[in-house]
Amino acid sequence: MKLTAAIFLLLMVSVYCSAQTPNIVFILTDDQDTEIGGMTPLEKTKRLIGDNGITFLNMFVTTPICCPSRASIFTGKYQHNHRTLNNTVDGGCSNTAWQQTEEHQAFPVHLQTQGYDTFFAGKYLNQYGMDTVGGVGHVPPGWSSWVGLVGNSVYYNYTLSVNGTAETHGHDYTSDYLTDVIHKRAKEFLGDKTNDSSPFFMMLSTPACHDPWEPAPQYENNFPDIQAPRFGSFNTHGKGKHWLIQQAITPMDNDTIAFVDDVYRRRWRTLLSVDDMVEDLVNTLDAKGLLANTFIFFSSDNGYHTGQFSMPTDKRLLYEFDVRVPLLVRGPGVAAGSKNEENVLNIDFGPTFVELAGGHVPDTMDGMSLASVLHNTRDDSVPFRTEFLTEYQGETNINIFSCSQWENQGMAYCPVWAHCVCEDSWNNTYTCIRRSDGEQNMKFCQFADSESFEEMYDLSRDHYELMNIAKSHPEERSQLLDAMSRLVACNGASCRSSQANLS
Ligand SMILES: *[C@@H]1O[C@H](CO)[C@@H](O)[C@H](O)[C@H]1NC(C)=O
Ligand SMILES: *[C@@H]1O[C@H](CO)[C@@H](O)[C@H](O)[C@H]1NC(C)=O
Ligand SMILES: *[C@@H]1O[C@H](CO)[C@@H](O)[C@H](O)[C@H]1NC(C)=O
Ligand SMILES: *[C@@H]1O[C@H](CO)[C@@H](O)[C@H](O)[C@H]1NC(C)=O
Ligand SMILES: *[C@@H]1O[C@H](CO)[C@@H](O)[C@H](O)[C@H]1NC(C)=O
Ligand SMILES: *[C@@H]1O[C@H](CO)[C@@H](O)[C@H](O)[C@H]1NC(C)=O
Repeated sequence: MKLTAAIFLLLMVSVYCSAQTPNIVFILTDDQDTEIGGMTPLEKTKRLIGDNGITFLNMFVTTPICCPSRASIFTGKYQHNHRTLNNTVDGGCSNTAWQQTEEHQAFPVHLQTQGYDTFFAGKYLNQYGMDTVGGVGHVPPGWSSWVGLVGNSVYYNYTLSVNGTAETHGHDYTSDYLTDVIHKRAKEFLGDKTNDSSPFFMMLSTPACHDPWEPAPQYENNFPDIQAPRFGSFNTHGKGKHWLIQQAITPMDNDTIAFVDDVYRRRWRTLLSVDDMVEDLVNTLDAKGLLANTFIFFSSDNGYHTGQFSMPTDKRLLYEFDVRVPLLVRGPGVAAGSKNEENVLNIDFGPTFVELAGGHVPDTMDGMSLASVLHNTRDDSVPFRTEFLTEYQGETNINIFSCSQWENQGMAYCPVWAHCVCEDSWNNTYTCIRRSDGEQNMKFCQFADSESFEEMYDLSRDHYELMNIAKSHPEERSQLLDAMSRLVACNGASCRSSQANLS
C-alpha cells in the first residue's frame, strides 16, 4: 500500500511539474446576444465548452458596438482610454493613431513576448486593411500568423490579408464561405502542433451572426418556425425613455415584425457553421492530445436586439440585450459544468490571457484577470467586481437611406424598410454605471444630449428595464452619479480600485 501511495505521489508530482504553459483558443462571434436566445442554436458549443467548463451568467461589453468593443478586447481598456469611439477611421477604428499606439500594447504583443505562437483569422477591426489605413500590408504586431479580413463582416466576396498579402475570395460556398475559411485556416495552424510545441494562442473571429446573415447552403432552411422572442420589452416603448426610443413606432408594423423574425432566423442559421467549427476544433485538439492543456474561450463583441423597445434590428443601446454577451470557457483546472455569476467584462480578456500565459497583468490594462475565477481559487465571500461602466458615442448622419426627414439631423441607421425608425443618433451618446454588489443591482445612465437625459433601472426588480426610475430615486441616483464620475476618469489600476477584492 505504502509503495503504491509513494508511486502515486511521485506520479502526481511529475504530472504537476511537467504541466506545460497552456494553449489558448479564443472564438469571438460578431453581434451575438445572450438575452434574446443567441446561444440557443449552439448546441455543440454549449455541450463541448459550457458543460465541460464554466458558463458566465453576467458577462458584459463596456461598449455595445463592434470596433470600440474590439479595441477594448485587444487593449484591455475602457473606451475613454483607448479612444476608438466609433466604427470609422475618424473615430479611431484601426487608424494610424491606433496602429502607432494602442496596437503595440494589445494582448497579442504580450503573448508573443511570453513565447506564444500567435495565430489570428477573421474580422479584426471594421476599417482594417483599407487603403486609407495602410492596406493589407499592415499586419498588427504580436501575431506570428495572420489571416485578417479587410473591412467589416461579410460571408462572401471579400479580401483577406494573409501575412500582409492580399487573397481575394468570391462566392463559391466550398472555397469562400468565410466562417468555413476561418475554420480551415485554424486546422492548418493546428496541423503541425504537438504536445512538445511551444504554446499557442489562436483567435478565430467569425462574421456570424452579423449582417448580411448569409447561412451556409445546408442551413438555409433551418428553424423555419422560429420567431424573435415576444417577452420582456418586445414591441413596447417602456416608460420615460430617451429621445431615440420615443421615435420608434409602437406597435411595430406587421412588415417590420416579419423582417425582424426573418433576421432572427437567419442569425441562428449563420451560427450553425460556428457550432460545426467548435466541434471540429475540440475533436482535433483531442486527437492531438492537446485538449487537456488548452483553454477555449467563446464570446461575442456586443449583443443585439430584434424588436425590443420597438427598435428593429441593431445594437448600440444601453439595455441588457445589447450589452450582455455569452462567455463560456473550458480548460485545465476549470471545473466542468460550473456556472458563475460574477460581473465580468470584455476588458478582462487581455489581463486573463496574459496571466494564464504566465505573465503579469500589464499596467496599461483597465480590466481584471479571470484566472482565479476560472481556477476557483478566489475568496467567494467577496464579489469579483461590483461596479463598471458602459460608454457609447452615438454615430451621426450615416445610413439614412431614403428617409429624407432624417437628412442632416444627426441621425444614423434609419432603414426605410423599417419605416425610417432610426437605430442611432448623435445624442445616443451615454455613459452608464452598473452597481451590482449582491445587495443592489442598479444601472444609471446619463446622455450627452441637449437635456442631459437620465435613465435608471433597478434590475433586481425590473430586468427588462421597462420603468425609468431616475427621477423617483434621487438618493440612489446621486450615489451612482458620484461613483460614475470617479470611474469615467479611471486608468489601469484605478479602474479596479473600487472593487472590493483589490481594496
Ligand atoms: C505567416 O508567416 C509565418 C512566418 O513565416 C508562417 O509560419 C505562417 O504559416 C504564415 N501564415 C500563413 C497563414 O500563411
Ligand atoms: C459576389 O459577387 C458576385 C459577382 O459580382 C455576385 O454575382 C454575387 O451576387 C456576390 N455574392 C454575394 C453573396 O455578395
Ligand atoms: C505527448 O504525446 C505523446 C504521443 O501521443 C505521448 O506519448 C506523451 O506522453 C505526451 N506527453 C505529454 C507531456 O503529455
Ligand atoms: C397585422 O397582424 C395582425 C396579427 O396577425 C393582424 O390581426 C392585423 O390585421 C395585421 N394588420 C395589418 C394592417 O395587416
Ligand atoms: C466618429 O467619431 C469621430 C470622432 O469623434 C467623429 O468626428 C465622426 O463624425 C464620427 N463618425 C460618425 C459616423 O459618427
Ligand atoms: C436628439 O437629436 C435629434 C436629432 O438631431 C433632435 O431632434 C432631438 O431634439 C435631440 N434630443 C435631445 C434630447 O438632445
